[in-house]
Amino acid sequence: SDTLRVALAGLGTVGAGVIRVLDTNRDLITRRAGRPIEIVAVSARDRHKDRGVDLSRFEWLDDTAGLAALDADVVVELIGGSDGPALSLARTAIGRGKGVVTANKAMLAHHGLELASAAEAAGVPLKFEAAVAGGIPVIKGLREGAAANAIDRVYGILNGTCNFILSKMEAEGRDFADVLAEAQALGFAEADPSFDIDGIDAAHKLSILAALAFGSQPAFADVACHGIREVLAADIAEAAALGYRIRLVGVAEANGGGLFQRVHPHLVPLHHPLAHVAGSTNAVVADGNFVGRLLFQGAGAGEGPTASAVVADLIDIARGEFGPPFAMPAAALEQRPAADSGDR
Ligand code: NDP
Ligand code: HSE
Repeated sequence: SDTLRVALAGLGTVGAGVIRVLDTNRDLITRRAGRPIEIVAVSARDRHKDRGVDLSRFEWLDDTAGLAALDADVVVELIGGSDGPALSLARTAIGRGKGVVTANKAMLAHHGLELASAAEAAGVPLKFEAAVAGGIPVIKGLREGAAANAIDRVYGILNGTCNFILSKMEAEGRDFADVLAEAQALGFAEADPSFDIDGIDAAHKLSILAALAFGSQPAFADVACHGIREVLAADIAEAAALGYRIRLVGVAEANGGGLFQRVHPHLVPLHHPLAHVAGSTNAVVADGNFVGRLLFQGAGAGEGPTASAVVADLIDIARGEFGPPFAMPAAALEQRPAADSGDR
């Protein structure tokens, strides 16, 4: 049949969301994809957990690794973690000639070059729209929309949990821990929320954006990173009195032959668009030499937006639309030294 057969690993916030998107929008997705997209098998840790979706129609595998051996075209990896079962599944799936769709920025920040090289060698897609800025099509925007441009700077608000915490602390005078618990309940936070609040998740995403923007190899180790743990309500109030908001911002800049990459809390002046990005919203700014300034903004985390990006990748694959994962052949991505920002 011409159906795109999908094996789904991970049935948490995003995985269950993917099933809901495919169920709810089945007809329009089939028309846009040009053929049906069907989940054929699923896997997670707990077979008996109620996930609010009917899993009885899918083959269940206790071991996610087994998904790579099935008769499926694409493996969707929504387990998380830079290594472990996610990485071994992605490697095995590509090795067996299957495409991979993932939302796993940690895995891509650490192993993106290896996985992209393997996918290109195997002639299969590796797609990750959901890995950066949730529902915002920023990977597509940089990889395709801005493909004709040299980009010298990309920056933005890349972590929905931190932005949710900072904006709630500001608007409602709430405590850090109380707001973090709310972000976790809403499904925004990572399994280990220190990845969010210590800036690591934003750094993972920044390293992916930098690779796309500058044609460099993803280099997470070169991202200097400081999170929001020490930001106090008093800091937020003082910043507001001076005409600023505190936002966790990631900045990547081509600097001579090197790359400056850094995530840390910034004082953003109220006249800047990033000062008005509130809640779990993300925003990414890229400066291209012909297109000018691009601003991508939208929902950066949560079930619906993230699942929407995963399914968009599946639609691209069903249409046969895919190319090198990082916009140019992995072998052409440059290894660029970490650069200092100078006066920043
Ligand atoms: P969850 O923690 O909600 O879900 C993870 C899923 O993976 C669960 O179904 C879990 O099984 C399964 N799982 C975990 N460990 C294993 C294992 N060792 N073997 C098999 N299955 C395992 O995570 P999310 O859905 O929130 O995130 C998934 C991915 O998407 C991550 O890479 C995350 O960074 C990324 N992401 C998340 C966003 C969000 O807003 N939540 C936004 C953008 C990206 P069980 O349910 O049985 O415990
Ligand atoms: N934990 C991440 C965030 C999920 O809060 O932005 C989206 O990548």
